[in-house]
Amino acid sequence: AQAAREAVFDAAVAADERIEPRDWMPEAYRASLVRQIAQHAHSEIIGMQPEANWITRAPSLRRKAILMAKVQDEAGHGLYLYSAAETLGVSRDELLDKLHTGRQKYSSIFNYPTLTWADVGAIGWLVDGAAITNQVPLCRCSYGPYARAMVRVCKEESFHQRQGYEALLALSRGTEAQHAMAQDAVDRWWWPSLMMFGPPDDESTHTAQAMAWKIKRHSNDELRQRFVDIAAPQAEALGLTLPDPDLKWNEERGHYDFGPIDWAEFWDVLKGNGPCNDQRINQRRRAHEDGAWVREAAAAYARKHTGQHGE
Ligand code: 3HC
Repeated sequence: AQAAREAVFDAAVAADERIEPRDWMPEAYRASLVRQIAQHAHSEIIGMQPEANWITRAPSLRRKAILMAKVQDEAGHGLYLYSAAETLGVSRDELLDKLHTGRQKYSSIFNYPTLTWADVGAIGWLVDGAAITNQVPLCRCSYGPYARAMVRVCKEESFHQRQGYEALLALSRGTEAQHAMAQDAVDRWWWPSLMMFGPPDDESTHTAQAMAWKIKRHSNDELRQRFVDIAAPQAEALGLTLPDPDLKWNEERGHYDFGPIDWAEFWDVLKGNGPCNDQRINQRRRAHEDGAWVREAAAAYARKHTGQHGE
């Protein structure tokens, strides 16, 4: 019977059909999806911190309103993704507990500080730009709830990317000091943005299996290259340079060549030694503790009202 169920699962994946929560699936497929979707959700929630830092310091009401909308969107992305993870039989509490105790990760990119207002533009353009490059293929992921969550997320991400690009363009075309602030932010955020795509393919634990299951549709290096090819011309349009002397269009390859990534830094940040790891996780734990009374009140209210109307 197990062999028959595996055959049905394999045939569905091979035929590019969606696997839904009630379908039989290999335990390893479920576990890998829980790992990736939970860490994706954690990234969205932690990712609210660096930008929220600038909501009260935005240079105009317009920029403040845009940034508030973006940070609110990230919270929503987290909720879609925790909900998608719950369809695999895990609870949000359990996932948050794993995040708070370092047993699950969040994206390395959010362990860097947002030092000036220009960082908000650089994050929108580069970090959300990289996220789009990574998330568009996930709309074709074999697991239904994850793929469908990505469709809505990608629509909102393109607003995130465009507002960041536009903010950077305003600075780049502004005073000399503003141009220098935009260039400094791009210098600091470029290489960590390339690390968002994960380690090189030959050091990636999950890529082969994730591609066999059609969770991952392209390898880490392929999507990283795709992002560099998109961002390099955009930097020129912005009148800003990227901090890579080896970045150069290669006609034969039809891609940009780019310099070596500092993988020691990447693995160090993953180990918890990035500039902001402690700050981010401590703030996350504090927010969770401060919010306990809200969760308890909501649960009490639900118990009371469910009892009354017998829904
Ligand atoms: N930061 C932290 N951990 C990372 C990482 C990064 N940038 N890149 C890889 N890792 C981890 C992996 O999670 C894995 O560890 P684990 O086994 O404990 O989970 C290990 O490094 C080996 O990497 P692999 O390449 O084998 O792992 P994956 O196959 O999972 O590939 C990934 C990594 C490309 C990030 C993939 O998980 C993925 O596509 N995830 C969904 C997208 C996502 O999580 N994006 C987060 C960016 S933030 C964001 O999108 C928010 C937006 O609003 C800006």
